Amino acid sequence: MKIGILTGGGDCPGLNAVIRAVVRKGVFHYEDEFVGFLEGWRGLIEDQSMPLDLDAVSGILPRGGTILRTSRTNPSKRPDGFDRCMATIQKHKIDAMIAIGGDDTLSVAQKLHEKGVKVVGVPKTIDNDLGGTDYTFGFDTACNIVCEAIDRVHTTAEAHNRVMVVEVMGRDAGWIALYSGIAGGADVILIPERPFDVDKVAESIRQRHERGRYFSIVVVAEGAKFATGAGAPVVQDMGKDEFGHAKLGGIANTLAREIESRTKFETRAVVLGHIQRGGSPSAFDRVLATRYGLGAIDMVHRSEFGCMAALRANKIVSITLKEAISKNRVVDNEMIEIVDGLFEEIGEVAGK
Ligand code: F6P
Repeated sequence: MKIGILTGGGDCPGLNAVIRAVVRKGVFHYEDEFVGFLEGWRGLIEDQSMPLDLDAVSGILPRGGTILRTSRTNPSKRPDGFDRCMATIQKHKIDAMIAIGGDDTLSVAQKLHEKGVKVVGVPKTIDNDLGGTDYTFGFDTACNIVCEAIDRVHTTAEAHNRVMVVEVMGRDAGWIALYSGIAGGADVILIPERPFDVDKVAESIRQRHERGRYFSIVVVAEGAKFATGAGAPVVQDMGKDEFGHAKLGGIANTLAREIESRTKFETRAVVLGHIQRGGSPSAFDRVLATRYGLGAIDMVHRSEFGCMAALRANKIVSITLKEAISKNRVVDNEMIEIVDGLFEEIGEVAGK
């Protein structure tokens, strides 16, 4: 078969491992041929591609980013976007597409599937919040990066008797904040799922310091919300991407000011930003991404189109794209209870 591959949306470590696994299994076991479309759906709209053979994927397993590059291009926001995608697929005589991306990229894949394109999805989101799958690759790497950052922030916080507020990714779901906060021993973890009362946060820090601690670490997801803020997250500016998402960021600075004014403890903000998405994938993510890639190419050859490779109970299974994009997988109560159980009166997950 002749198969097209693309990576869409925000990058994350492990994308290259997926591409490599798809191409290797396709070439070795199915005699497939591959075309890589560049920069997400833009590659199909503008007919930008590169050949993907064994040489092209050699050596890419440990590399972050994506050799196909990526973008947040939305065909429904471009003139004749879908028609141009279809025309490029026909021009290259593509039998099937593999789209690696999050809910935005996969919602486009679903629309193309409805128009008759044979497409299989691979889940990708650093936020780990795609529905229907237990974990997405890149998330483990991000948590390791954040955990190391929290460890480092700990020593400087301790040296200066400071409160440090660490802002991490997580637009709608607080998985990175929760996992890295637990792993890094944070004192307060704030996530989008539970708007928080800043007075309570300040009070819990004050109590901790009264008990003889001189520093505190707060981990906050970029999408966390002040309970008094009409449910709106803190944004960098009013701009939105082609899928309508605001540019989040800045909550750590706001929160640091609020904590300092209430507690009078010197407070600093650290924004980890895209450092969390850069660099080499962890061993766990390399294996997970490889399994997703192998699952996806097998799905193509089983004609499971309109479906996505998913991880469930440590097995790669096939679920419909519709199910995957139907809702975000947010932090559940069971996970929140784990964090609640870790603290006496001093720590809190937002909104208790
Ligand atoms: O959707 C994944 C994500 O990393 C979010 O956590 C973050 O808000 C956003 O992407 C950042 O997007 P960009 O790379 O376009 O700045």
